[in-house]
Amino acid sequence: MKRAGGHLSSGRRRKAPARPRAEIRSPQSEARNPQSAIRNPQWLIRPLVRQLQAYVPGEQPQVKGLIKLNTNENPYSPSPRVLAAVRSAVDGRLRLYPNPTAQALREKLAQHHACSPANIIVGNGSDELLALATRAFVEPAADTRSFGLARAPDNPDETRRAGDPRRERARHTVQYFTPSYSLYPVLAAIHGAHPHAVRLAAHFDLPPLELLEQSRAWNFEAALTFITTPNAPSGRAWPTAQLEALCRRHRGLVVLDEAYVDFAEENALGLALKYPQVLVARTFSKAYSLCSQRVGYFIGHPELIAALHKLRDSYNVNGLGQVAALATLADLPYYRANFRRIKATRAQLTAALTQLDFDVFPSQTNFILARPARFPAREWLEKLRQRKILVRWFPAAAVQDYLRITIGTESQARALVRAAKDILAEARRG
Ligand SMILES: Cc1ncc(COP(=O)(O)O)c(C=O)c1O
Repeated sequence: MKRAGGHLSSGRRRKAPARPRAEIRSPQSEARNPQSAIRNPQWLIRPLVRQLQAYVPGEQPQVKGLIKLNTNENPYSPSPRVLAAVRSAVDGRLRLYPNPTAQALREKLAQHHACSPANIIVGNGSDELLALATRAFVEPAADTRSFGLARAPDNPDETRRAGDPRRERARHTVQYFTPSYSLYPVLAAIHGAHPHAVRLAAHFDLPPLELLEQSRAWNFEAALTFITTPNAPSGRAWPTAQLEALCRRHRGLVVLDEAYVDFAEENALGLALKYPQVLVARTFSKAYSLCSQRVGYFIGHPELIAALHKLRDSYNVNGLGQVAALATLADLPYYRANFRRIKATRAQLTAALTQLDFDVFPSQTNFILARPARFPAREWLEKLRQRKILVRWFPAAAVQDYLRITIGTESQARALVRAAKDILAEARRG
């Protein structure tokens, strides 16, 4: 007889089994009892994953009337033409798989950036591509050669590295500046690679090349280096010439993460077409109001791009995302007008908060980083939340004194300034 729950039974009533004890047992004692792994699923999980601190994305609360300035979304809708294109793609074709390589989109992007589709891979957001880069270019720290895998032909550089511990470690290293995008250390941890964080200079400036060379903290041989440019969360932008000098020195791969570059004065895309060790990451999420559709891309040398294609899911970019991104590229003047509006609001908000004694970094992104007046940043987060305004605060030491505030519409910016004045007036009244 089969009982609800799916277990086979002889039909005779048995005494209910003792409840499993809640404590976590050692894997050795679990191994003696093959059933116990089911009671304690912990031991089914790889130790690396068990210990992993997952990335914490910004909150997405569904609170009516909330002014949401915490995840750098664009305050303006995608263009009417993009919405129409997506709507008209919602029909019986949804039963079909999308184009596996986002071919039409890659062709349009190639035209837009004056390169070839072979220079481009599209991802499920640029986050997916950052993860693929970690898998493609960094050796996990555990030695995979002991698994008896056939080895690829030796890289002469690698042979020269043998015996030098710093160089050997570099093969397993994901390097980045801090503060920058807090996903990078998580990607390194997921892959079992060494995360290597190097502090930015004062005021979140890019340290000069000579300083990086002298200090030896920066490793020019690191298998993979992520540079967020313009930087997040500071909003600072760095001259392309300085980035080029840095990239030129690198023996390992450099990803220039340009998620916010459409709000900046310069971009470094040309470096990805000039240097085989440089990839540039872009996204439709921020400047092109498509966070929800998850479309990002990398540009770089065809051999690197081909390696990444090998690792991605067969249909990694959903069909409606491809439609939306293509329609976006056909309506760029709409977006350029939005960039101008956001930059103007950024300037107004920076001036207004500076007047209230906030210390605001000059930003070339769609957010600002500000050290608030009078109270610690964390208290401001709560006080603003009580007034239905959500901004971002990071607990990391380098930025815990600051709030990161996404540039919203003009009226959202005014509401923020009103709330800040209100909070300060309340404090003065005691
Ligand atoms: C610096 C940086 N890079 C990449 C991303 C990921 O963007 P997406 O996966 O939406 O393309 C973000 C998102 O917040 C970011 O801040």
